[in-house]
Amino acid sequence: MKVCVIGTGYVGLVTGICLAEIGHDVVCVDKDEEKIKMLLAGKCPIYEEGLKELIGKNIKRKTIVFTTDLEGAIKSQEIIFICVGTPPLPSGKPDLASLDAVSRLIGKSINGYKVIVNKSTVPIGTAKRLKKIINENLRDDNKIHEFDIVSNPEFLKEGEAVNDAFFPERIVIGAESKRAIDLMEKLYKPLIEQDFSYAQNNAAKKDRIPVIITDSTSSELIKYASNSFLAAKISFINEIANICERVGANILDVTHGMGLDSRIGSKFMKAGIGWGGSCFPKDVRALAFTAEEYGAEANILNSAIQVNNYQRYKIVQKAMDVLGIIEDKTIAVLGIAFKPNTDDTREAPSITVINKFLELGADVRAYDPVVKACPPEMDSKAIMAPDAYKAAEGADILVIVTDWNEFINLDYLRIKKLMKAPCIIDGRNILDKKTMTALGFNYRGIGV
Ligand code: UGA
Repeated sequence: MKVCVIGTGYVGLVTGICLAEIGHDVVCVDKDEEKIKMLLAGKCPIYEEGLKELIGKNIKRKTIVFTTDLEGAIKSQEIIFICVGTPPLPSGKPDLASLDAVSRLIGKSINGYKVIVNKSTVPIGTAKRLKKIINENLRDDNKIHEFDIVSNPEFLKEGEAVNDAFFPERIVIGAESKRAIDLMEKLYKPLIEQDFSYAQNNAAKKDRIPVIITDSTSSELIKYASNSFLAAKISFINEIANICERVGANILDVTHGMGLDSRIGSKFMKAGIGWGGSCFPKDVRALAFTAEEYGAEANILNSAIQVNNYQRYKIVQKAMDVLGIIEDKTIAVLGIAFKPNTDDTREAPSITVINKFLELGADVRAYDPVVKACPPEMDSKAIMAPDAYKAAEGADILVIVTDWNEFINLDYLRIKKLMKAPCIIDGRNILDKKTMTALGFNYRGIGV
C-alpha cells in the first residue's frame, strides 16, 4: 500500500520503517533538510537500537524514500500518517501549529481518496479539527475527492521502539468510516497475523494482535489515559517508597509483594527519581488541562504531577542530609538521558537535579554513556566527564540518576578509592544496599 509519513521524529521514523519493512511503499517527509540528507545517506538521527540497520536495508530495497517534498508525497500516496511534534505550550496545552499547517497543505493537495491518520499524541477532539481544516482548505478543483480521518495512537517506548513497533500489544483504530477502517486493517495485516516467536516482549507473544475499533475521540483518550495511568502508577509507588523510608519498610519487597497480584502487575513499579521524557510529563499535563477545560476534575492527574516534581528534589534533600551545606562540594552524577538506551534528554530528571546542585554552589561532574553534551536546559557549568570513574574523582557524593546497565557493573571498589567520601545516592535503586554497604559505602536508595 502507498503510505506517506509526515514528520521523522521518534514516532514518524519508527512507524515509517516498520511499514516499509512489512512491505509497504513508504515516503517519509520532513521539512528539516539536514535530517532528510542524513536519512538518505542511511544515517539515523536518533539513538535507537536496530533502527539504523532497518533504514539502510529499506533504502536498498527501495521500500522507503525520504524527501522534503510534502505536496508530492501527499499526492502520490493514499494513506497519510501525521507524526509531527505537538510540544507543550507554557499553559500545558499542546502546540498544534505544525499539525494545522500540515492539515492545510493536505487540504490543498488532495488529488484522490486519502486516509489521513493521526499518530501524534493530540488533544481530544483533534480528529474533528483536522477534518474541519482539511475541508476549509480544499480547492474548487479538488472538492470532489473524499477523505477520512483516523486516530491511530502510537504506544512505543524509547529505547525499545523497534520491538514495540513490530510487536505492539494492541492496535487502536479510531474512525467513523468503514472504508478507512478496512484500509487500516489491511495495512496492519502483516503485523497482526505475524509469527510472534521473535517478540522480545513476552506480553506481545500471542496469536494475534488485538485491534480495537472505536470512535476517534475514544481512541485519542486511550492514548492519554494509558500514559497518564502509567505515570500515576509510578507516582503512586514513589509515594509508597517515601512512606517506606519513614516507617522502615523496604520498597523492593513491597513492590514485589504487590506486583504478584495480577490485578496490579509488576511493571512500571520501579520507585526512583520520577518520570521524565517527551511523553509522560506532556501528556499528563495535557489531559489535566483538557479535564479543566471541560469542567471535569483531575485530582489524580494533578497529584501524580505534584508527587513527580517532589521526587526529583528528594535526591537533593538526601545529599543535604549527608553533606549539610552543598556549596563547594563536588557531586558526581551518573546518567543524563531521561531513561536508559536513549539519548533523549527532554524533561530528564538529571536537568532538574543538576541545575539545583549548581544553584546551591556545588561542582557537578556528569557522565552518560550516550549523552555527551550538556542539554540546552541544563546549566552549562556542569562538566561532562568522559567516563564514570572520571566523574567520581574527588566527589563528595555520587548520584545515580539514570538506570543504565553500565552503572550496575562498574568497579565500585575503584570508585570508592577515587571519591573523597564514599557516598552513593541511588535514584533508581539499581545497586544492592547490602553489597554497597559491605564495600564501605554510605548507600542511600529510594525507599530502601
Ligand atoms: C512512554 C510510554 O511508556 C509509551 O507506551 C508511549 O508510547 C510513549 O510514552 C509515548 O507516548 O510516545 P517513554 O516516554 O519512551 O514511553 O518511556 P517509559 O519507558 O514509559 O518511561 C517514562 C519515564 O518513567 C522514564 O523517565 C522512566 O525512567 C520512568 N519510569 C518507568 C520509572 O520511574 N519507573 C518505572 O517503573 C518505569
